[in-house]
Amino acid sequence: MASATAMLEQPGPSLVPANAVEAAVSAIRAHWSCEATTAVILGTGLGELADELSSAATLSYADIPGFARSTALAHRGRLVCGELAGRPVVMLQGRCHGYEGHSLDTLTFPVRVLAALGIQTLILTNAAGGLNPNYSVGDVMVIDDHIDLMNLWGRHLACRKTSLLKVYDPVLANRAAAAARREDFVLHRGVYVAVSGPSYETRAEYRAFRRIGGDCVGMSTVPEVLAATECGLRILGLSTVTNVACPDKPQTVSAEEVVEVAAIAQPRVRAIICAIV
Ligand code: HPA
Repeated sequence: MASATAMLEQPGPSLVPANAVEAAVSAIRAHWSCEATTAVILGTGLGELADELSSAATLSYADIPGFARSTALAHRGRLVCGELAGRPVVMLQGRCHGYEGHSLDTLTFPVRVLAALGIQTLILTNAAGGLNPNYSVGDVMVIDDHIDLMNLWGRHLACRKTSLLKVYDPVLANRAAAAARREDFVLHRGVYVAVSGPSYETRAEYRAFRRIGGDCVGMSTVPEVLAATECGLRILGLSTVTNVACPDKPQTVSAEEVVEVAAIAQPRVRAIICAIV
């Protein structure tokens, strides 16, 4: 048997067993037979967007083998398949986070299942803190690139040696920008800093993340991006700015406020999703 060190040295695909992915796909297929090519992972405060799907089939994560249940506030833990603007789409209402104790393999499992279902384009959404002083609460940012400061490395087996030089799809980002122009709202493009949480940042951390090139900071998304890149999916990342860090005039942020403000940005995120689907 290969030693753990040798396994970690090997480049190659995820060690998530193919039959685990197949079992999840079968559970979903038992409820919905349409072929969708776009999926959306709905982050904090955005879950209600899935309620708009017509002809929807809804599965609780508890009924999909291998899907972990989220304990985070306002993450319902349901997969909804249906139609948006007449096009088939799969939406995940809520996600699990590293700070809930999950491994990277568990966090990224839904992405592998989506890829096996035939998804080619993945829209990832999240609530984030604004680091860029030009951002305002309620703004939306397209993620052009990320800085990964999550501390999951010791525990993950998947996504080894995947190149991350071209992760976020510029064509999708341009379509999002065009939708924002049409609907007349501000859409930023910037760098997302991913941290493990679960506490929000200190003033020194907010300052440091801005200095290293971050525009927003949050506790999710990057694990899914790693898996989606490995699976060859086209990726659009969207952050809703729920609070803006002012290290010299700090304002306390609460999880409840984050949920509330993210919901305000929902119509903007919806317009972008409709433009992509
Ligand atoms: N920091 C990290 N995650 C977040 C924040 C923040 O300020 N706001 C919303 N999610």
